Amino acid sequence: MKKDQCKKTTAYLKLNLTGKRLILRPFKFSDFKSCQASDKNRLPILNKFDEPISLGKSDYQEFKEKIKRHRLRGKARIHFIFGIFDKKTGEHIGNLDLLTINQQIGWGNLGFHIQNQYYSKGYASEASRLALTIAFKYLNFHRIEAAMEMDNLASKKVAIKIGLKYEGVRKKFFPHKGGIDMRVYATNAIDYK
Ligand SMILES: CC(C)(COP(=O)(O)OP(=O)(O)OC[C@H]1O[C@@H](n2cnc3c(N)ncnc32)[C@H](O)[C@@H]1OP(=O)(O)O)[C@@H](O)C(=O)NCCC(=O)NCCS
Repeated sequence: MKKDQCKKTTAYLKLNLTGKRLILRPFKFSDFKSCQASDKNRLPILNKFDEPISLGKSDYQEFKEKIKRHRLRGKARIHFIFGIFDKKTGEHIGNLDLLTINQQIGWGNLGFHIQNQYYSKGYASEASRLALTIAFKYLNFHRIEAAMEMDNLASKKVAIKIGLKYEGVRKKFFPHKGGIDMRVYATNAIDYK
């Protein structure tokens, strides 16, 4: 990345965007109660991709340690992890992250995870649109992709709804899962409006 491009990026802890219903921002220690509550209110597991969000919600010290690790990774520009919160109530809705794949060419991966009691309300799509603004306007990413398992239809729909374009299938990815095929959707700073 060129020097002048680096200058324009915003510090991780200053990233904070508000949409129609949601706020996307780094976690604070004071989010512990809200995260605990959203975890407690989860519905029974709905499908094979549905799992609790791992934030150390049963223990405040563990939660704090996780948030500290987020900050270190955000500061190093390795991984930007955000909480998704209801703008009015402050409820924790889910998590979203931008992971740097290659810093030199501004290539990152978008991930999203919504607590299952909030599924299909358009929250992942709204938060992901905010994340694309953060990625291109505040963090100088050039390319953002989202990759999902072939049968993760909700995730695929989010990618399409936020304007990512289908690029193909990454074959036998994730060795720890035995090599699974992943659909790849992406956009870039030139095409994204
Ligand atoms: C994928 C996920 C983030 C979507 O969150 P969400 O807030 O429900 O997403 P949105 O409401 O913005 O959009 C989901 C869309 O998929 C649709 N959908 C949900 N389940 C579906 C299914 N099984 N088959 C087809 N479409 C489905 C919804 O109806 C919605 O479409 P619509 O807006 O046209 O009605 C959520 O399901 C989740 O957290 N899953 C577990 C973690 C995960 O898989 N993350 C992605 C890893 S790549």
